[in-house]
Amino acid sequence: MPKCVYVNGQFLHRRNATVDIEDRGFNFGDAVYEVIFLNNGCLVDEIEHLDRLEYSLSELDIALPKSRRVLSLLIREVVRLNRITIGFIYLQVSRGVAPRDHLIPANITPTLVIMARSSNLIAKPTIRDGVSVITVPDLRWRRRDIKTTQLIANCLAKTDAVKAGAGEAWMVDESGSITEGSSSNAWIVTANRELLTRPPSNEILNGITRRTIIALAKEERLELHERGFTTDEALKASEAFFTSATSLATPVLSIDGKKIGNGRVGPITKKIQAMYIKFANSP
Ligand code: PDD
Repeated sequence: MPKCVYVNGQFLHRRNATVDIEDRGFNFGDAVYEVIFLNNGCLVDEIEHLDRLEYSLSELDIALPKSRRVLSLLIREVVRLNRITIGFIYLQVSRGVAPRDHLIPANITPTLVIMARSSNLIAKPTIRDGVSVITVPDLRWRRRDIKTTQLIANCLAKTDAVKAGAGEAWMVDESGSITEGSSSNAWIVTANRELLTRPPSNEILNGITRRTIIALAKEERLELHERGFTTDEALKASEAFFTSATSLATPVLSIDGKKIGNGRVGPITKKIQAMYIKFANSP
């Protein structure tokens, strides 16, 4: 539980932090957010996360609430006040407060909330041992490239996964292709040792962890293709994993009850994990 949070110009104890009931984030999901991995007290890929925050805001025509420099300072202050060295930052910007009306009001002041949570992500058993995944239909809107707080379809998908004893849900589009996880990007390794992950488009969130792992895999000259894959292809994969700021690179041991490869964490997944942890340890 975060102790001290930032809300609209004030650092407050979590208990005293409030947002107006007519905040458009609360009423309409008219808000965007970022989750940033904090490792050894450093923000991993901070620039890329703030770039994506600016992108999400500009696609929705919401003003950047503070300059990039001030946002960075505020994030660091929340980290410092909570004395966190490993965990993650949650930053949310909503359009702001206005009487409830579907019509988007002009010139309102955005709401800015920053929280930090301590969590030893690198030591998470799911990252070491892997999880199973289920597939579910992708019920979301068509602008999944914008990191909005409208996450009910994602929440339902994740809840279905956990009810089925799985750790993540992979969402499937009308053509049978996997789009992404409920809160992560999906990857497979084919029988020919090719790494596949869906290319960025409006159909998925262009994950920052995904982008970093693509760059690291290219440096290592791993065979990598940004192309989508179907559920059938995923079921025939030799390895699978998913990536995000909080799941890092989490191995997938089975999909819809079918073992992937030999049902253990595969060598390419382990290599990707090691590369990513090394990267996160050397900012
Ligand atoms: N989610 N796709 C979706 C739908 C996501 O929600 C996330 C991250 C990702 C991976 O993005 P990144 O690598 O930038 O974390 C992909 C965060 C962790 C969350 O909602 O908690």
